[in-house]
Amino acid sequence: MRAVDIIIKKRNGEILSKDEIAFMVNGYTKGEVEDYQMSAFAMAVYFRGMTDLETTYLTEAMLKTGDELDLSAIKGVKVDKHSTGGVGDKTTLVVGPIVASLGVKFAKMSGRGLGHTGGTLDKLESIPGFKIQIANEDFIKQVNEINMAVVGQSANLALADKKLYSLRDVTGTVDSIPLIASSIMSKKLASGADVISLDVKVGSGAFMKDIESATKLAELMVQIGKNCGRSMTAILTNMDEPLGYAVGNSLEVIEAINTLKGNGPKDFTDLCNIFSAHLLIDAKLAKTEEEALEMVNEAVRSGKALETFKKFVKAQGGNPNVVDDYSLFEQAKYQFEVKALRDGYVSKIDALTVGNASCLLGAGREKLSDSVDHAVGIVLSKKVGDKVSKGDVLATIYANKNDVKTETEMLNKAFIIENESKEMKLILKIVK
Ligand code: URA
Repeated sequence: MRAVDIIIKKRNGEILSKDEIAFMVNGYTKGEVEDYQMSAFAMAVYFRGMTDLETTYLTEAMLKTGDELDLSAIKGVKVDKHSTGGVGDKTTLVVGPIVASLGVKFAKMSGRGLGHTGGTLDKLESIPGFKIQIANEDFIKQVNEINMAVVGQSANLALADKKLYSLRDVTGTVDSIPLIASSIMSKKLASGADVISLDVKVGSGAFMKDIESATKLAELMVQIGKNCGRSMTAILTNMDEPLGYAVGNSLEVIEAINTLKGNGPKDFTDLCNIFSAHLLIDAKLAKTEEEALEMVNEAVRSGKALETFKKFVKAQGGNPNVVDDYSLFEQAKYQFEVKALRDGYVSKIDALTVGNASCLLGAGREKLSDSVDHAVGIVLSKKVGDKVSKGDVLATIYANKNDVKTETEMLNKAFIIENESKEMKLILKIVK
């Protein structure tokens, strides 16, 4: 077999065999297929697409290039959740404690964020003392003891994806449905959970800009997971405005804690509740969405979910007192208000622009080697549908520099204010 023949075959729109796909993936991982050949291959897939079966073969081939976690020592149903990446997305910090407090084993490997804002690990590291690298045995012991652990992704999961994702990032081949589906699912399957729930974001701040392509991506990932014996749910959620009010690492952790106390923003609370409910259903702890939502509400109302969050923070070396004292988080030196330039109703808050502004403040990274500033970010004061008058505060910038002219301009552009009021639907579709 030769890489060039496989590239030509895909370039011509033909269907590849399992062996041909495995040849490309294994060859690339070992360095026998060159970067320029894999780039051409990724571009051919980008334009020609793949059948569902080809995508499944691609996923399996990538999965086999790394370790597969054995979670069999954890008693009970192991669940994992993944988001395709959104601005202000701190869902794991709330869903994890809720379902763990109800008896589900929440065993999650998480990644660092690139661009926009920090990832879940960066958010967790804003808690003083919190450690994201723990040995495999300790990970398993912690999940058995307190039902929850979130750790950094082992470098050895789906090695091919690691290499391919960096290549796609610089060759304009990230937003291809088969490449995204195989990338996400190879890592999720390697992480060993029985139940996987996926948050597929749709909108300006997401890879998938419309419902049709997001549905296709969701259905494909659900199918791949089911073919591999996992219980799958994908929920399409709107990313036409940031999730909740807070964007930035410690600011988002504070919002997550408020949500666990029952005082979270409505959109974020609704999203966490629906994800928690479907994890409970898939873990066979509830039969209907109504029953599951009641369990979720009770976990928050009773304080059980917040207690689990504290135990989780303590188990991973963090200071659990942050829950009652937000001044224990690193504080930004300056705060600046961004004010409305006209009267009207907020009709859109461009999530990508808010994410980029937060990144510019230092909350996210441009290269994986960059460090993030945990204290900085943006807290919105208005959401889509809110009425505003000229001069009202739209958002507050938390910065460690005293010139935020660019970020202020970006935020003024991100807020679209129109004469008519508009509603935004958050949960767009559920794919089982
Ligand atoms: N997240 C991933 O892990 N892979 C992609 O291709 C896109 C989002």
